[in-house]
Formats: sequence, C-alpha cells, structure tokens
Amino acid sequence: MTSLVDIRDDGGIRLMRMNRPDKKNALTAAMYDAMAAALTGIRIDQSIRCVMIAGLPGAFCAGNDLDEFRKAAEDGEGLGESVLRFLHALAYCERPLVAAVDGFAVGVGTTMLMHCDYVVASRMARFTTPFVGLGLVPEAASTLLAPRLMGPCRAFALLVMGEPLDAAAALDIGLVNAVADSAEVEAKALAAARKIAALPPEAVLASRRMIRGEPEELAERIDLEADFFRERLQSPEAQAAFAAFFTRKK
Ligand code: COA
Repeated sequence: MTSLVDIRDDGGIRLMRMNRPDKKNALTAAMYDAMAAALTGIRIDQSIRCVMIAGLPGAFCAGNDLDEFRKAAEDGEGLGESVLRFLHALAYCERPLVAAVDGFAVGVGTTMLMHCDYVVASRMARFTTPFVGLGLVPEAASTLLAPRLMGPCRAFALLVMGEPLDAAAALDIGLVNAVADSAEVEAKALAAARKIAALPPEAVLASRRMIRGEPEELAERIDLEADFFRERLQSPEAQAAFAAFFTRKK
C-alpha cells in the first residue's frame, strides 16, 4: 500500500510529500499525524537541516478533507487533535521549511505556506482559502501571518472573500519566492533546500528564529482560531456548505 504521506531523507533534506491523488491531496487525520511526526522528529535528528514540502503534479493540496470536517461537526468536535498537532508542529518547527507548489493549494494548502521560509510555485499554482464561504474561519495562524505578509486589505480579500491568488500575485505579495514551469518547480525548490542545508546550521536556525518571531505567539493564535473554528463547524452555514460540496454536479 502506498503511503498517503511519503517521507524521505536525503542529503540533509527531509522531503515530505502529500500523496493522496484520488482526493487531490485533501488531508485526513492520518496524514496530519504523519506530517506532524515528520516535523517534530527532526528535533532529535541533527542530520536534517531543512524540510521540503511537496504535493503532486497539479494538486499541491485540496485542504482539509471535507468529509472529516462534516463528521467532526456531527460529533460536536473542532479542528481535531491531529490538525492541531500538525499546526503546532509547523509553528514550533526547528528547521527551515521549503515548499514546491504545483496546481491548487486550497485552505491549509495555502495557510501552511505562511509558515514556510522559501516557496517555489509553478505558473499553474492557484492559492485559495475558502474558509468563510464554507461558514468557517481561517486557521494555522493565518489571521496573524497573512496581514503581516500582505497587509490587512489583501489578507481580507484572500482569507475572508476567498479571492484566489495566481502565481504572479503570490509572488507579488511575498507568499512565494519564485515561479517556475511545472516541470521545474521541484528541482528549483530542491536547489533552494540544498543551498540552505549547506549553510552553517546554528546560524541558520538563530536567524530564522529572529525572522519568524516567537512560536508561542503563533501557537496562541492557532488555538484562538481553533476555538472559533469549533463553533463555526457546528453552524448551519458550515453544514450546508459541506452538504453542497458532496452533492455538487460535476
Ligand atoms: N475533501 C474531501 N474530498 C475532496 C476534497 C476535500 N477537500 N477536495 C477534493 N475532494 C475529492 C472530491 O470529492 C472528488 O472525489 P470523488 O472522485 O470521489 O468524487 C475528488 O477529490 C476529485 O475532486 P474534484 O472536485 O473532482 O477535482 P477538481 O480537479 O475538479 O477540483 C478542487 C479540485 C480542489 C478545486 C475541488 O475538489 C475543491 O474545491 N475541493 C474542495 C476544497 C476545499 O474546500 N477544501 C477545504 C478548504 S477549508
């Protein structure tokens, strides 16, 4: 059986690939658990200097599995322990994060990138966060990171109005570092990861810590968003949106 998240270590780089092609890389609890473990595991593995996150051709990530959201809503739950474990692992990650994005990056597929230090997007990349349209609120500390990155007006358009960003717009606002053809995107991201991995690691980590600020601040925002998220998941607005997705005409 193929793993839904493929983790490989090579040359000081941990490659973490989301691999659920039939559901366009919609993330399940098991996938969050695997990614959280891959991120926290590097604390005791000094040989890993950098983590690279990748998806599949045309599908970086379709966001949280909406069926799992629907079940969580029915059971009176919120984002869930696995999601929160992953988001906290991002906030407390002790290595630089590089991402290679081809195709769509929806919901957490976009908000996880706000925790990354170097992002390469393909010309076909499309970033959307349809949380509010689904009756939900943004997560992953994106309500803190997006306004810092792009200013509150553009953060509102992205996070609340659900306006998509194409690769050029994402480059313009600083969500990504570079744009490449789809066939080149992973090679370019890997080259950046190798460059980072070759730098003096302690100097990299000290610099990154100052650039990204205190992880506790991110963790607090993740938890605050999760409180709102739990309320929103139970709402008739959210339940109607999930039902609409699964009964949509193709
Ligand atoms: N949760 C659960 N299943 C999902 C999913 C998600 N987030 N995203 C896609 N899928 C499933 C579809 O239900 C479909 O399953 P099926 O073949 O069993 O019917 C399969 O993945 C392929 O999706 P499809 O919509 O046919 O692919 P597409 O290329 O036309 O569109 C997306 C891709 C990502 C744009 C579209 O699937 C989508 O909008 N997904 C929902 C994204 C979302 O709202 N995420 C939550 C953010 S908070």
